[in-house]
Amino acid sequence: MNEYASWSSGSSATEMPPLMRPPMPSVAPPVTGTAPAQTAEPIPFPRRDGPVEQAVEQAVEQSGGEAAPAQETVLGPTGRPWPTLPEPRQIGIHGNARIISMCNQKGGVGKTTTTINLGASLAEYGRKVLLVDFDPQGSLSVGLGMNPHTMDMTVYNLLMQRDVAIEDVIVPTEVPGMDLLPSNIDLSAAEVQLVHEVAREQTLSRILEAAKNDYDVILIDCQPSLGLLTVNALTASDGVIVPLECEYFALRGVALLNTTIEKVKERLNPKLRIDGVLGTMFDGRTLHGREVMERLVDAWGDDVFHTVIRRTVKFSDSTVAGEPITTYASASPGAEAYRNLAKEVLARCLDV
Ligand SMILES: Nc1ncnc2c1ncn2[C@@H]1O[C@H](COP(=O)(O)OP(=O)(O)OP(=O)(O)O)[C@@H](O)[C@H]1O
Ligand SMILES: [Mg+2]
Repeated sequence: MNEYASWSSGSSATEMPPLMRPPMPSVAPPVTGTAPAQTAEPIPFPRRDGPVEQAVEQAVEQSGGEAAPAQETVLGPTGRPWPTLPEPRQIGIHGNARIISMCNQKGGVGKTTTTINLGASLAEYGRKVLLVDFDPQGSLSVGLGMNPHTMDMTVYNLLMQRDVAIEDVIVPTEVPGMDLLPSNIDLSAAEVQLVHEVAREQTLSRILEAAKNDYDVILIDCQPSLGLLTVNALTASDGVIVPLECEYFALRGVALLNTTIEKVKERLNPKLRIDGVLGTMFDGRTLHGREVMERLVDAWGDDVFHTVIRRTVKFSDSTVAGEPITTYASASPGAEAYRNLAKEVLARCLDV
């Protein structure tokens, strides 16, 4: 166990209790990961910075004080009412990026897939996006078509050589408006070498400071561990998105992740907050999938994104093609799901 993982020892954080089969809801959640067909008037999106009551008051005011007629509620795949996701606003000036880490120490839960496709969707909505590959596996770089053996400069050079400028390492991607800080296996050495540095946890934060004014969003793809690299990512971030596979075993270890986030917040980065928990690889046709989703909502409440990402082989296909699903299969439900996620992220923490 590394030094940072041991932060959780002695904490009161508990693992999730085992699944108890509760009575199933009378309305089964739709099996799509995207917005269900809007057959009824949707409810307003509950923004975090403004109480729902304010939105309701506003709506009543706009309708001349008339109470809205009773509406049929449309349930989303999380079993909660599906909200109206506001259309992203156009922006003319870029900069002051929000830095968001995709973090979960469990492997294969969709961190890299979410980084690529959320990034591409935000770029489609006109945001300037920088993706940071902060995993020595280099999956993000490979998933965007880069060859790990022919990279001149990587994040490793930025971390270890003070004379390397971030502009010399950033490469454009095929997606207009989206750039990449690539990585390869060299990064694994940084974890060992950084241990001897002063303020070792702030290294990435210092590096990204130089790029913050050129982008609207910086997404960091973390490695599946809670070691020094991940602590660096959390220290550099404003928010964390936790992708969670909708399988029971995926819920184990979440308490440890939560404790790590709390410790980073307490000791290194007070502004850090959880931007959202994302259910991935969801299969709404199975009782198990729906039960896990229910447990997620029980445990994390409104932190769980309304958007969920369904399990589909299209994601693996798009990785092989080296491009986001939003361009590889632009009209597919997977691409639509990530566009919805982008709208939710914008509404929750970027356009506010
Ligand atoms: N919604 C999905 N449906 C089906 N397959 C998926 C989905 N999301 C991701 N995958 C596939 O699952 C595998 C793992 O996904 P990904 O690499 O995004 O996870 P990760 O959390 O980044 O993994 P690691 O912890 O190893 O970095 C990949 O092959 C990816 O194509
Ligand atoms: Mg990954």
